[in-house]
Amino acid sequence: MKPIRMIIVAGARPNFMKIKPLMKRIEESNLRGDSRKPRVDVFLVHTGQHYDENMSDIFFRELGIRKPDDNLEVGSGSHALQTAKIMMGFESICEREKPDWVIVVGDVNSTMACTLVCAKLAVRVAHIEAGLRSFDRTMPEEINRVVTDQLADLLFTPSEDANRNLLREGQAPEKIKLVGNIMIDSLMDNLPQARLSDILSRLDVKPAEYIYVTLHRPANVDDRAQLAMTLGDLSRISRRLPIVFPVHPRTRKMVAEFGIRYDADSRIHLTEPLGYHASLCLAEKARVVLTDSGGLQEETTFFRTPCLTLRPNTERPVTVTIGSNRLTTPAKLLEDLDHALEGPERTGQIPPLWDGQAASRILDDLIAASTP
Ligand code: UD1
Repeated sequence: MKPIRMIIVAGARPNFMKIKPLMKRIEESNLRGDSRKPRVDVFLVHTGQHYDENMSDIFFRELGIRKPDDNLEVGSGSHALQTAKIMMGFESICEREKPDWVIVVGDVNSTMACTLVCAKLAVRVAHIEAGLRSFDRTMPEEINRVVTDQLADLLFTPSEDANRNLLREGQAPEKIKLVGNIMIDSLMDNLPQARLSDILSRLDVKPAEYIYVTLHRPANVDDRAQLAMTLGDLSRISRRLPIVFPVHPRTRKMVAEFGIRYDADSRIHLTEPLGYHASLCLAEKARVVLTDSGGLQEETTFFRTPCLTLRPNTERPVTVTIGSNRLTTPAKLLEDLDHALEGPERTGQIPPLWDGQAASRILDDLIAASTP
C-alpha cells in the first residue's frame, strides 16, 4: 500500500499541544505495521511565528516533539507581513514535498497562511479545531478560522456547536467530522508530569489559595486605559488571595510602552511565560483562573476549575454551557471574582468526546479519506 505523505504545521504556542497527539498516534500506527493500513510519512514544519525558548522550545521538550524538518523562522511582524512570509516559505515546501495532506491546527496566522497556500496548489488540507466561532471579526483569530474552514477539505470539530456553525456556513456534511478536543489528549498524556511540577512551591503558593491569571489578547492589553484598570483590579483582589501572573511578551511590551507601574504592595507573582506542565499544574490547582486564552478556557473546563474569561464572547461556548467558564467584562471583573471566590471549588462537567481519543479518531478518518 502506498504511504500517505503528510505535512503537519505548527507555528505558535497554542499549536504545539494540538499536533503532538496526532504525531504520537501516527508513530504508533506505523510501528504496528498493520498491512490493512498505509504507512504515514510526516514532514513537520515549524513556521517560527513563535520563537522564544519559553514560547516554543520548552513545549517541544516537554511534549517530546521531535525537531521540525523545516523551520521557516518568520518571526514577529504585522499580520500581512507574517502571513505573507509564511505563505512564501510554505509554498516552496509544498512544491518540493508534494504531500497528500497538510494538517493545520487552531486559529493562528500560520493556520490560515498554510491553508491558503494549499488551496492554490490543490493540496488537500485538514483543519483540526474547525468550526469554532466567536462571531467577532475584530479578533484576528476569527478571520483565520473563517478563511481556514472555507478552504479546508476535512473539518475536524471539537464539539457539536462547531458542526452547527459549519453547516450554517454551507459546508458539506461529509467534510465535517466530530472528533472531540485534541488538546485534551495532550492534557491527559501530560497530567502525571504536570502534577509533579514544583511551580507552586517555587512561587510559594498553596493549592486552592491563589488566582491564576493570563492576559494577552490585543483587545485587553493594547489599550492603555483598559490594561491599567485591569492591573489595578488585580492589585486589589490580590490582597484577598495571591495572584500568579505569567506575562505574555505582548503584554510585557504594552505595559512597558504605556509606562504602567505595578503596585509594589500587591501580592501578584509576575513571571516569564511558563511551560506546559507548570501551566497545567497551576490551572488544576488554582482557586479561580482569570484568562483571555482559548486553551485555558478548555483546560479549566476539563479540571472543573472555576474560570472567568475577560472577553465579551467566546468561540468555545461549551466551556460556558457545560464547563466551568463564565464571561466577564472589565466593569464587572471585581464583582465576578468575588462571586467566583465564594462559589464551589469545582464546577461544571467535561463535554462529550473530550476523552483523550481525538487523535485516534482523526487518524482513522484521514486514512479512510486517503484510501479508495
Ligand atoms: C498569537 C496568536 C494568538 C494566540 C497567541 C498565543 C495570531 C494572530 N495570534 O498572538 O491567536 O492566542 O499567539 O500566544 O496568530 N513575541 C516574542 N516572542 C515570541 C513571539 C512573540 O517576544 O516567541 C512578541 C513579539 O514581539 C510580538 C508580540 O510578542 O510583538 C506578539 O506576538 P504575535 O505572534 O504577534 O501575536 P500573539 O499576541 O503572540
